Formats: sequence, structure tokens, C-alpha cells
Amino acid sequence: MCGIIGYVGEKEIVPLLIDGLKKLEYRGYDSAGICVINENGELECDKKKGGILDLENGVHDKKIKGMIGIAHTRWATHGEPNEINAHPHFDCKKEIAIVHNGIIENYSSLRELLKKEGHVFVSETDSEVVAHLIEKFYAERGDLKESVLKALKIIEGTFGLAIIHKNEKKIIAARRGSPLIIGVGEGEMFVASDVPAILNHTKKVIYLSDNEIAEITKDGYSIENLDGKLIDKKVYDIKWTINQIEKKGFKHFMLKEIFEQPEAIKNALRGRIKDNKIKLTIDLNSEDIGRIIITACGTSWHSSLVGKHFIEKITGIPVEVDYASEFRYRNPLVKPGDVVIVISQSGETADTLAALREAKSKGAKIIGIINVVGSTISREVDSGIYLHAGPEIGVASTKAFTCQITALLLIALMLKQKKSALDVTLLNELFILPEKIQEALKSSDEIRKIAEEFKDSKNFLYLGRGINFPVALEGALKLKEISYIHAEGYPAAEMKHGPIALIDENMPVVFVAPKDSTYEKILSNMEEIKARKGRIIAVTNEDDEKINRLANYVIKVPKVCDELLPIINSIPLQLFAYHLADLKGLDVDKPRNLAKSVTVE
Ligand code: F6R
Repeated sequence: MCGIIGYVGEKEIVPLLIDGLKKLEYRGYDSAGICVINENGELECDKKKGGILDLENGVHDKKIKGMIGIAHTRWATHGEPNEINAHPHFDCKKEIAIVHNGIIENYSSLRELLKKEGHVFVSETDSEVVAHLIEKFYAERGDLKESVLKALKIIEGTFGLAIIHKNEKKIIAARRGSPLIIGVGEGEMFVASDVPAILNHTKKVIYLSDNEIAEITKDGYSIENLDGKLIDKKVYDIKWTINQIEKKGFKHFMLKEIFEQPEAIKNALRGRIKDNKIKLTIDLNSEDIGRIIITACGTSWHSSLVGKHFIEKITGIPVEVDYASEFRYRNPLVKPGDVVIVISQSGETADTLAALREAKSKGAKIIGIINVVGSTISREVDSGIYLHAGPEIGVASTKAFTCQITALLLIALMLKQKKSALDVTLLNELFILPEKIQEALKSSDEIRKIAEEFKDSKNFLYLGRGINFPVALEGALKLKEISYIHAEGYPAAEMKHGPIALIDENMPVVFVAPKDSTYEKILSNMEEIKARKGRIIAVTNEDDEKINRLANYVIKVPKVCDELLPIINSIPLQLFAYHLADLKGLDVDKPRNLAKSVTVE
């Protein structure tokens, strides 16, 4: 939930670290801090409550110079967001500085122990204990890496850590459960939570695995496991460009990412359909599969629900969908022969990773649908496919959602082709989907006008049926997370079993109402709302007199086949949530209380 960057080299260090933090701000933005070993060999530090700009303004006047530094953007877990709890944290003598992402589970017992030994704590965080523990061992051995190794053997919980000591010309980095990468440059080295932080400087990246510790100097690095065994790690060449992670003239990353969907879907499909056959790097034989379980969190869980609909329809294989956070804790009945698909944009979600490990330990075959290349989940699955959607920076997931649905459809078709030829019409529809999305995006201005009418609403209901019910869930999630308006997604037919009691002129209802087998039923549900004075916004591909009469606002989307309806119908709902939140003047890319990747349970 927090972002880390560290640098060893000869560039001007403060602007470099601040720029890196800005690229990581999506990981946390309630406070930030920086610490550099200055030219006098002292630790010089600044911390601020608030975003990176607050830190930048404060640190500017200090004119800190040095060659080694670490910085952090925080998303609070222990201790309120304030300057004292902001990272870096220090030992008693202010010789050691640490930045930490994760949770130290045994921090309170360690803190008590260290206090008894005379250590003085200043913050309420779990992280500060790490600095004091290293201080204790450094006093014995005088070697930073050795001291960190000893501390890591005692610490329970998760960490991505970067540590400096004023007398040592290096950064020590370590990870367990929280992502950390090493950036390899020419005469300079980096450590960071994620690639965008260092992409301005290098494209060569090493992904640390759990229980690995790296010693980073200006001229190189070495990586060991906790037993001190040297590890030879692959250096990845990152293909993303810095342009891809900037806003390209859009007001927000979220809007840019909504508009990137035609390209993102093209990339998700690229090279995967040839001669009417699906080619994926997934090793699955439909005959051997007893059942498929899909597990994920949040938006990725919604795409899983869509996937269930067409995987069952296309392959005849039963599919269950489970929240990863529930799956991991209920001792799930998983048997060898089961296939578990884990879906994660970031590839770092703690609950999804734990669900993966649980399923693996029970003998299931694990398939991943992941966006971030080299992420922890992508490295632990048996096989999988990358979305190739490009970096998603806006906290509210958009392009990853539609690409996940595309990937699930490809998997369903791949399983089907082992038994019979594929439906060429569906394949052709997939090819022209990017154009259809482009068409749907043209409604953006019209949707903004509709959003203007509803921006003071306090509640919303989103209704859909069948394969479009998860779209209603996703539409409601988008609205609530960025506009802070309460919104509920519901299967339209369930409305009369309770939620209809809520309907009056103050309860706008968004209907996902494409012309499919459920269309007439959906129109009846609209009649029920209309009779109770509810205001209706309908997303549809139909243009008949009935829907125009029933809905106060009709947003048209292009016609697509049933399997692709959830993708095309999501576009106006993403735009509606975006425009409404923007009209309310909210920080769309960094909604309060949320972080892009949820690496704690
Ligand atoms: C909502 C959103 C979250 C994520 C969820 C899982 O817009 O982004 O609900 O979908 O935290 O994240 P990933 O897909 O990275 O595992």
C-alpha cells in the first residue's frame, strides 16, 4: 500500500527521488518522506503529511545533496497519517533510516522488548521497530547487511524494505510479501516498489522474490536469500515507455485509461487468434478439467463473474467464482483436476496471492490472468496470460476490467476448440471490438451532461440481468469509489424482493439493458421503477419506442454479440462515474482511503 524508491548514484538525488515518488503516488498518498546521506555523512530528512507536492515544496529549500537516498509515499495501516508516522523511520541515534511497505505482525512484542533494552520510539507505526532492531544488531556486528539479515529472521509479517546507514555507501533492500524491484543503471542503481518510479532512468529491472535481500551500490548489486546463499536473478527488459505512464493530455489517468481501451483490447488479442484458432501459452486440456474456480478481488472479481457466464456456456465446464479473501480462509474444497484461475491487474493483491497458494497446496492447476509483468502472482502461477493492457495508474480499474473479460473469453474459446471448431462470427466480432469501443467512447460529452444532472444524488441503484449483472456491480463500484456516492448493484429481477422499497424520485436507477434474451424482462423492471417515480438512465444498444419512453436518459452503445455485451456496456458506466466525480471536483485518480494495489490482508 505504500511506495518506495531508493537511489545510489551521481545524479541530483532529491528531484530524482521526488519524481519517483510521484510515479508511485497511486500506491499511497497520505504522507511522504525522504532521507539522504548528505555530503557531511549525516542523514538529512524531510517528511510531510499530504501528497508528494507538499513534500516537494518543503524539501526544496533544504538543498539536500548526496549520493544515496531513500523515499516513501505512505498509505496508513498502523498510526494515523501525520508527519511523525510518515517514513523514513530511524534508530535512536539517527544513523539508520528505513522505508517499509507491508505490515510487521509481531511489532508490538518486539517494540516492548526493544523499549526494555532502552530504545526510544517516536511513532505509532509498526515499521519503526525495524530500524531499532537493525540498530541493536548493528551495535554487535557493525555490518548493515548482516544486521538486516538478523532482523529479518525475527520479523513476522510482510515487508518491502529499503535501508541506509550513514556510514555505508549502499542501500539494503529486502522483500517478503510486498513488491520490490531493483533497477540496474550505468554507474547508478535503484530500488523501487514498481517500475514507473525508475523508468525515466533505466529499463533493466530485477524482481526480488520473497525472503531475498539485495545489497545495492553505485556499481552493482548482489542478491542473497535469508541463509546467505547468493542468487542469480534474471534481468528483465521493460517494454513500457515513459509516455505510456503519463497522462497524454487527459485531465486524469482514469480518463486516459478509459480512452485507451480500444488499443488495450487490441493488445490483449494480438497474436492470440490465428487461422480461426486461439493460441495461448496456457497448458490446459478441457477433457481433464472437472471444474474451474475463479478467484479475485474487487473489479477483477466482477470480471470473473462475467467469465463464469460464457465459460459455462461455451465449454460446458462448471465454474465457481469466489472472492479471494473468502476462498483463502474457508478451507475450500479443491481437488487435483480442478483448475483455479486467479485474476489480478497488479499481480500483487495479498488475498489473491494467498488464495493462489491455498489452491496450489491442494493440488489445483493455477492459471493467471495478470496485467503487471513479472509481478508476484505472475511468477507463482503454473501458466497464464498477460493482459498487455499497459500500466494502469488510476486507482479505479477500467481497461484492466475489459481486458480481463477478453482474456477469459480467449480461455473459454481455447478450451472449446479442443472439442469442436470455433464460431467464426464470434472471432470476427472480437476483431472489430476495438472499433465498437471507439464508437461507444464518442458518447463521453453526452454522458458528462447526464452526470451533471445527477451529481447531487446521494444514492444510486444499478440493475442488470444475466451476463450484465456483473456490469451493474462494476458500474456501482466505479461510482462509489471515486464519487463517494452510495451505489448498489443488483440483479434486476431481485429488485422486487427488497430494494424496490427504496425507489422514489430521489433514487436514480441505472439499467444495463441491451437487446438480448432478457430485454423484455428488463423493460418490465423499468416499468416498476417508473411507476414509483424513480429516474432512469438506460444503457442499451436498442432504439425502440418503449425504452425511449421509459428511461429519462438513454445512452446508446453499438451492437455486439452477447459475450461482448459486458465490455461495451461498461464503457458508458466508467465514463458516467468519471464525469460525475470530476464534476464534484474530486481527485479521481486518488480517491480517499483507497490504494491501487492492496498488498495487505
Ligand atoms: C476497483 C479496483 C479494485 C481492484 C482490486 C483487485 O476499481 O481497482 O477493486 O480491482 O483491488 O486488484 P487487482 O486486480 O490488482 O488484484
